[in-house]
Amino acid sequence: MSDVLFQSLRVGNLELKNRLILGPMAVLQPQKDGRPSAQTIAFLEARARGGVGMIIVGGAIGTRRGNDEAPFQPLLRMDIEAYLPELREVAEVVKSHGVPIIAEVMTGFGRMGVARNGEDIISASPLNVVIPENRFPQGIIVPGGRTTPMPREAAAAEIKALEAETIETCLRMQRAGWDGVEIPAHMSYFAASFSSPRTNWRTDEYGGTAENRARFLVNIVSAVRQHAGADFVIGLRITAEEHVEGGQDATGYAELAKLVEAAGLDYVALSDGCYETMDVSTPAKDGGLIDSGAAKIFRETLKVPVLLQGLHDPENARSALVSNCGDAVMLARPLLADPNYVNKLQQGKLEDMIRCDRQNYCIRRLAFNMPVRCSANPEMGREARAGKSAPASRWLPGALERIVLGITGSKTFMGLVRALMTLKRG
Ligand SMILES: Cc1cc2nc3c(=O)[nH]c(=O)nc-3n(C[C@H](O)[C@H](O)[C@H](O)COP(=O)(O)O)c2cc1C
Ligand code: SF4
Repeated sequence: MSDVLFQSLRVGNLELKNRLILGPMAVLQPQKDGRPSAQTIAFLEARARGGVGMIIVGGAIGTRRGNDEAPFQPLLRMDIEAYLPELREVAEVVKSHGVPIIAEVMTGFGRMGVARNGEDIISASPLNVVIPENRFPQGIIVPGGRTTPMPREAAAAEIKALEAETIETCLRMQRAGWDGVEIPAHMSYFAASFSSPRTNWRTDEYGGTAENRARFLVNIVSAVRQHAGADFVIGLRITAEEHVEGGQDATGYAELAKLVEAAGLDYVALSDGCYETMDVSTPAKDGGLIDSGAAKIFRETLKVPVLLQGLHDPENARSALVSNCGDAVMLARPLLADPNYVNKLQQGKLEDMIRCDRQNYCIRRLAFNMPVRCSANPEMGREARAGKSAPASRWLPGALERIVLGITGSKTFMGLVRALMTLKRG
């Protein structure tokens, strides 16, 4: 029998050659003004060459507000019409390898936003994010945890303006030759804040019933479907389960996804947990969505393909698809560690595969707003300058980055910081 991972899959009008997809990641190193760079293209092209069935481009922004409040900068700007020719070039390069390309269109960072230019951060309801010290991903030490600033409740007019701008961006990406868009409603971001009764206690048309909590997403998806036509792929990335006391479970999220599906979705991509439970979102081991039963609930509730995350081992990915927990697997960190993961798997060269160690050096760099690199793959993040040494402009920042990461990654140093903080509190 043929390997399920290499069976084709229909997603909207697209025929994927296999079921292994590059998951969205903010690792693109665009230019300072948010235009794609040679590195953006080289990173994506290496993964397209490496055999994936589809590429979902993360670290991308669909609104002006999203860009201004982004916790990591610069991100790829898709909200600017003048960038269309360069965005088209990105799609052309990826598609020249027979790989479809989808843009993750971030509406806004909501509870994870950073207030800049005198602007407030906004969310469905005023609830900030508290990440306890023990809920960070493996390898990340933050003494005392992290508490984000309190967002303001978004006014209905602000919500509608973000809907309109996101719709415009999605249609721009279609004109730029991309195969589709994905609306991210996970990880405590603006769209996610509406989904759960824990983070949304509004009393207007955007709060209360599941229909109201889904309204922001339904309005975007139905308008994009209406204007883009049947052939443009529209996906949704959604939290599967919050894993927080009083949080929404998989049944609640799947019901919400079903309402958005009816507005014209072609796929649903799952994410697990939220910023309060980052250790679940970027897990230290395989299979969280499978073991909790969450994936199965989504698969049974929805008609469209369900994309899974958190399955690094091909054997686990295979077993998840065979047991009908989902239809395809998104690989994020495994494809930083090895852009040729899929080709090597298909050729049976498992021993040549560079495995992700899940120590999250990549995320530590992202958290410090440094260009993302991978401890297992020295070429990651430098694909555009293969074989060449670092440009002079990187010498000083590169050295400083090594010092900052060295100090903050040391458990002894961070233990000292924690002790000093306890003294101060006492
Ligand atoms: C460096 C880095 C950047 C990420 N950026 C994004 C992003 O822009 N959008 C998104 O939806 N998920 C992002 N993620 C989360 C991944 O898509 C994925 O859900 C997570 O890493 C777990 O999957 P994995 O075990 O295959 O890495 C990022 C993850 C990493 C490691
Ligand atoms: S730095 Fe590389 S090896 Fe380490 S967790 Fe990130 S992707 Fe995996």
